[in-house]
Amino acid sequence: MSLDEYVAGQKRVVAECVRVLSPNGSICWQVGNHVVDNELYPIDIMVFPIFREHGLVLRNRIIWHFQHGLHCSRRLSGRYETVLWFTRPGKAYTFNVDAIRIPQKYPGKKYYKGPKAGNYSANPLGKNPGDVWVIPNVKHNHVEKTEHPCQFPVELVERLVLALTNLGDLVVDPYMGVGSTAAAAVLHARRAAGCDVDAQYTETARRRVADAARGTLRTRPMHRAVYTPSGAITIAPWTQKTT
Ligand SMILES: C[S@@+](CC[C@H](N)C(=O)[O-])C[C@H]1O[C@@H](n2cnc3c(N)ncnc32)[C@H](O)[C@@H]1O
Repeated sequence: MSLDEYVAGQKRVVAECVRVLSPNGSICWQVGNHVVDNELYPIDIMVFPIFREHGLVLRNRIIWHFQHGLHCSRRLSGRYETVLWFTRPGKAYTFNVDAIRIPQKYPGKKYYKGPKAGNYSANPLGKNPGDVWVIPNVKHNHVEKTEHPCQFPVELVERLVLALTNLGDLVVDPYMGVGSTAAAAVLHARRAAGCDVDAQYTETARRRVADAARGTLRTRPMHRAVYTPSGAITIAPWTQKTT
């Protein structure tokens, strides 16, 4: 399939998504970069105009940064994909930022002068997570790994579900794969629907959604810190002290 055919296919699916989008709902379009012979085509830039043609408004371009993947030798290794978050124009869209706040860097920090002296200067509920999300991608030793070659981590979708939907809302993924989006929705008491051209994936998706509903689906917890190596097996030369 050529890139033009791919974008034409996306156009048809986006049109259907916009048709069924609720007035206060969101569309999150997660894409990466297409690479041919070391030439890179950023797919989000290519699909952005499709959403604009439907009158939708971009609220955030979220950078999903992960630390593992192919090592490139003729260009920098690719370590991000993006999520374009669109809503209809106006202020009516659902955005529950409190549901996805993360710990403040200095949680106990207080104003030391002025009328608020002695009060906490940071929001006690935590801070807005920003638009760069560092979340491990699903490689072979990830607890969520299935047969799918490029499944989402459930925690990536959980953030979107919690912030952009309310209890009982319907979350739809037209490229469902093994159901990470649907599982994230069900884990947080939302309804889910989706489809995929591969029957094996939809079978796995059914199982994972059932596990999510039963509370037995194993996922990487949302607030677990990203692993930082310590006691390195190999020591990088530039970190060694010289005397
Ligand atoms: C990047 S994967 C999505 C993986 C999914 N997010 C998950 O975590 O399992 C894209 C999926 O879209 C499916 N797909 C491709 N073309 C499709 C189409 N025209 N209609 C429905 N699904 C399609 C593929 O089979 C693949 O599983």
